[in-house]
Amino acid sequence: MDDWSPSSWQTKPAAQQPEWPDEATLESALGEIRELPPLVFAGEARQLRAALARAGEGQAFVLQAGDCAEAFGDFSADAIRDKLKIILQMAVVLTYGAGLPVVKIGRIAGQFAKPRSSPNEQVGDRELPSFRGHAVNDAAFDPDARRADPKRLIRAYHQSTATLNLIRAFTKGGFADLNQIHTWNQEFVASSSQGRRYEVIAREIDRAMRFMHACGIDLSTDSKLHEVDFYTSHEALLLGYEEALTRRDSLTGDWYDCSAHLLWVGERTRDPDGAHVEFLAGIKNPIACKVGPAATPGDLEALCERLDPDNEAGRLTFIARMGAERIEGSLPPLLQAMRNAGRHVTWVCDPMHGNTFTSGSGYKTRNFDDILTEIKAFFVAHQQEGTVPGGVHLELTSDAVTECIDSEVTNETLEVDYQALCDPRLNARQSLELAFQVGELLQT
Ligand code: PEP
Ligand code: CO
Repeated sequence: MDDWSPSSWQTKPAAQQPEWPDEATLESALGEIRELPPLVFAGEARQLRAALARAGEGQAFVLQAGDCAEAFGDFSADAIRDKLKIILQMAVVLTYGAGLPVVKIGRIAGQFAKPRSSPNEQVGDRELPSFRGHAVNDAAFDPDARRADPKRLIRAYHQSTATLNLIRAFTKGGFADLNQIHTWNQEFVASSSQGRRYEVIAREIDRAMRFMHACGIDLSTDSKLHEVDFYTSHEALLLGYEEALTRRDSLTGDWYDCSAHLLWVGERTRDPDGAHVEFLAGIKNPIACKVGPAATPGDLEALCERLDPDNEAGRLTFIARMGAERIEGSLPPLLQAMRNAGRHVTWVCDPMHGNTFTSGSGYKTRNFDDILTEIKAFFVAHQQEGTVPGGVHLELTSDAVTECIDSEVTNETLEVDYQALCDPRLNARQSLELAFQVGELLQT
């Protein structure tokens, strides 16, 4: 890594970069970001790395979840609190069901840039640049909205900072206290069967805490019952932005990308000789790489060589996103290859991105059943190969949206509350249902 620097990615081909209108405005925005403080600290990234190592060994389970694309308009304290609520609820269900600590990572506080399958979008006979996330342009189908604007990078930075600030307050300042467990159940969820099932667990946890208190154990002093560690993550797509937030850790002298605790490279940008992999290779954060059904054992070996040459547990997570129909054929050869090579990678299942389709009514959607089928197949594959299912990676929201199809949201009712800016998300009820199901898989 001798020739690595935060800017060495610039010598390699970078896929999926926006067409910025002019270099000078881009440079001025990036220059401003370079002067701004880091969002996260190296020590926190090292903590997450250790937690991911434990997940890779079956001693913990990763719950990585949030929006496909965060929105500049969705930024109120209530919205951020509600996003936390559903993740905290799911974590309780998983911890209670599986008896394992849950490593909580949000797709939040920086998930503002999207890779696209086509650089342009056609509607009728009009063609415009695709929406690439609010750090680049706006989703409205309008030439002005779709123009890439570097000033958006600065806004993305500030929104990420404020979001993370609130997350830190909520997770360390009392809201994530286990005594608050009932208040995480939002009204519209509480009335569903999933919400009622959650309440049963919440009451059992209350009783256990009262029991321990009655035994003379002072629960008020153990911070683990009153605070949670919550980490941030996003796709490291806009390399200029990531470079601007890459700083040298004063303790170790190592480089960290301080825009988030964990950065991942997407299915479309994971070329071992490309700019994205070059960038991730030199930062010391824990990193992840999406892996689709076309990936070969050789592809993964090349990525390991580039991204984790020292084979350090917790450094590299592979996020498999195969699709319900393909996982059974595609995943086992990859698990075998990594196992046989003695690679300490952590395996996480993204059951969302291989299961997207356009509904008869014209909405981009996913079937809850496909999502669950892929997760089940992920567990089966690991069981058969003697490897460890380390976690799940989900697109979800705390709102009562109708974006994914199940017994209550149909092809016809997708339109009732479809808000997705990019990919369809599970709503809070669906997310909770999934947590119960994954909790059961972890018990078997
Ligand atoms: C995503 O996570 O939103 C995404 C675009 O994923 P992938 O790179 O797996 O397609
Ligand atoms: Co997505």
